[in-house]
Order: sequence, then structure tokens, then C-alpha cells
Amino acid sequence: MNLQLGDTAPDFTAETTEGTIHFYDWLGDSWGILFSHPKDFTPVCTTELGEVARLKGEFAKRGAKVIGISVDDVNSHNSWSQDIEDATGNKLNFPLIGDEERKVADLYGMIPPNAENTLTVRSVFVIGPDKKVKLTITYPASTGRNFEEILRALDSLQLTASYSVATPVNWHEGEDVIIATSVSDEAAKEKFPKGFNSVKSYLRYTPQPNR
Ligand code: BEZ
Repeated sequence: MNLQLGDTAPDFTAETTEGTIHFYDWLGDSWGILFSHPKDFTPVCTTELGEVARLKGEFAKRGAKVIGISVDDVNSHNSWSQDIEDATGNKLNFPLIGDEERKVADLYGMIPPNAENTLTVRSVFVIGPDKKVKLTITYPASTGRNFEEILRALDSLQLTASYSVATPVNWHEGEDVIIATSVSDEAAKEKFPKGFNSVKSYLRYTPQPNR
């Protein structure tokens, strides 16, 4: 299945390193970050999982839960977790799904149909509290992801879900944002009392409204 932005994220029940998880129940009203890695006991994956463990508090601050997945089983994940801690100094502190039957991987299209092998690639799905897919990325096995970028994108998704704004290139929390082109100048004066700077009629910057 090829999930697109705006699609409903499929629900599932799976075995994880933290027991059986019913995905929607586990998510509750939180945002969710579901990310796949190709294989346990591999170098890039080890660094990625350690990094997500380090950043778990940052995701939690944003009301987001993280959950990983690969086509290895839970016993393998549990054995590997000690290596992750040894190698990165970060203890695995979020659930890892054991998906040896590839049920979740197939639901989310984490195994490309034309790939040479049947390993999950490095997919990320950001899921909103409404269970819709808000963002996806896919990297090949050889390229580790930047999870600081996922946090940055989550900040943007959460801001733009509440205000009629978009975030410009390389934006970070606290920087000026762009007023949506659907908002007239008249309406912008009302909506953005801190004022705005029109660089072009369609490019108007305003201070981040929720700060
Ligand atoms: C890695 O994590 O280093 C890796 C995993 C699968 C294929 C290639 C690299």
C-alpha cells in the first residue's frame, strides 16, 4: 500500500519490546512517529535507534510518541538493545515492533516492491492526533536519517495545524513564519497583531504567533 499525505494511518496490533500494542490505543490523542529500520545488529540502524532514544524527551515535550519497526522479531530487538546502549550510551526507551511476518511493513509500504531484498527501508510516518498521515520520508538503508529534522518538521506541522501560517526554508521554532496566501492583508492585521512584513504581496513574514 502506498500511503499518501492525508490518508488515514492504518491501525494494527503488533508484538513489541514493550508487549502487545494496539496502535490506535497506544497513540491515544498523541502525535505518532512510526519509523522503520532495515535490520537489527547493523551499524547505521544502531546509531539511529540510539539517537531516537536520546531525543525521546524532545518528542514527548511535543506530545509525540515514537515507535520503531523492522522485520526482525522481538527477541532479536531485545538482544540488540544492549548493543545500542553500549554503542551510543542511550538505552532503548521506546517500543520496537517485531514484524517478521511483514504485516505492518506491508500496511505502510515500508518494503519497496522492486527492492532487491525484503527488508524495510528507512521510512518515517508522522501521524496526527486525528490519525492522518502528516509527513512521510523514505531513505535508503545506506543513509542514516536526521531525527533533529523530524523534530523541526514536527514543530512546523503542529504550528501550521493551529494557525494560518507556513514555515519558510530552514525554519526553526521561534523564527518568523509566513502568513498563508489565503489570508488577505486586512484579515492578517486582525489575525497577527504583532504585525507583518510584506516582502512580496504573497510573501509576508510575521513573528511566530504562539510565542
Ligand atoms: C545499516 O544499518 O548499517 C544497514 C542496514 C541494512 C543494510 C545496509 C546498512
